[in-house]
Amino acid sequence: MSLTSQSNRGGKQQRPVLNVAMVGHAFMGRAHGNAYRQANRFFDLPMQVVPSVVVGRDQKRASAAAEKLGFASATTDFDAVLADPDIHVVDVATPNDSHFPLAMQALQAKKHVLCEKPLAMTFAQTKEMAKLARKQKVRVGLWHNYRRAPATTLAANMIARGDVGDVLQVRCVYLQDWLADPKAGWSWRNSKKLAGSGAHGDLNAHLIDLVRAMTGLEFDAVCGLAKTFYKQRPVGRGKTAKVDVDDAFCFLAKFKGGAIGTFESTRVAPGRKNFNCIEISGTKGSIRWNLERMNELEVFSMKDPRDAQGWRTVMCMDDVHPYAPNWWPDGHIVGYEHTFVHHVADFVTALAGEQPFAPNFDDGVAVQAVLEAAQQSAKAGAWVKVPR
Ligand SMILES: NC(=O)c1ccc[n+]([C@@H]2O[C@H](COP(=O)([O-])OP(=O)(O)OC[C@H]3O[C@@H](n4cnc5c(N)ncnc54)[C@H](O)[C@@H]3O)[C@@H](O)[C@H]2O)c1
Repeated sequence: MSLTSQSNRGGKQQRPVLNVAMVGHAFMGRAHGNAYRQANRFFDLPMQVVPSVVVGRDQKRASAAAEKLGFASATTDFDAVLADPDIHVVDVATPNDSHFPLAMQALQAKKHVLCEKPLAMTFAQTKEMAKLARKQKVRVGLWHNYRRAPATTLAANMIARGDVGDVLQVRCVYLQDWLADPKAGWSWRNSKKLAGSGAHGDLNAHLIDLVRAMTGLEFDAVCGLAKTFYKQRPVGRGKTAKVDVDDAFCFLAKFKGGAIGTFESTRVAPGRKNFNCIEISGTKGSIRWNLERMNELEVFSMKDPRDAQGWRTVMCMDDVHPYAPNWWPDGHIVGYEHTFVHHVADFVTALAGEQPFAPNFDDGVAVQAVLEAAQQSAKAGAWVKVPR
């Protein structure tokens, strides 16, 4: 296996090189791989990010992915990758059950780690991961990429400077329909053993992170309701496999300081593709963001004259908006994949400058605390306090 990085060739590279090993090369592998390739092209970063090696379970498939995604090499030997001092970052882009073992191994090897969400299967695991990351003095990040849309970052800035006053309520939905057909095939996402939960860990995890990022609110207690509508799904040849995770998961939340919230995630809502929408109501106004119109932020201000009050739509792609000037002239929009590029750019900047990066594993602990408390609550049919 050759782990020689592209940017060392010819000795032309002046900036320090950050070699990335990426484990997993399907949906998220494509999104992350694209981000590693684009980050230096659109952001002036203090380090050169190099997509070095794809780690897979099958050499042929991993090699094909490396070729396509622009990585220098591919391997099935994770131990060799960890033993290589020229690999600086390990990216965990695999199903949920493997996040804990892979990230813990990478942390033991003193690699920086970027891990997909949800951080792990249990609150206890996330705490172990955060503790080891601190002990090893490496930098870690969690791929809650929706924090880094220009509009969500702008919303966080507006809320922080008081544009909506004190936040009183958040209402959040993340609605999809790819499992609305009972004949939709079984995958690891339908297995408790492999995924931990269904729509909850998949989609509510993003909502929880977004609310924390946009408002700074911390959860106090939750009351959950989980439902699995389709208990078997086809696996081919007329056979079916058991679905033991939720198709839909709703919960109410009380936040520290008195605000309240509602959360709903589902993968069985016909007509909804990737409807990730958050509305925040404060004492002076409201803000709403919807991923399906991700460059727009809807804003209502009670400070406007009464006869001119109404929802306004801010197109967040001018040179005054977060991330926008790094891309195109005013009004030229960005998409889903750009949020991952922003994540890499901010992580590299933080790493080089020793500034904090969020979301990190401590944020992952906070998200998992809410997820797990909501699951306990759904089981018990009662409010559950979110542990610290
Ligand atoms: N941030 C987001 O918006 C977002 C979106 C989708 C998925 N995710 C998360 O990303 C992770 C991966 O999801 P996906 O959609 O890419 O899944 P996927 O099924 O498309 O791909 C998983 C990849 O991991 C590989 N893999 C599985 N087990 C492995 C192991 N033990 N070692 C090495 N490779 C292994 C598979 O071969 C495949 O390449 C999940 O945790 C999921 O929750 C995040």
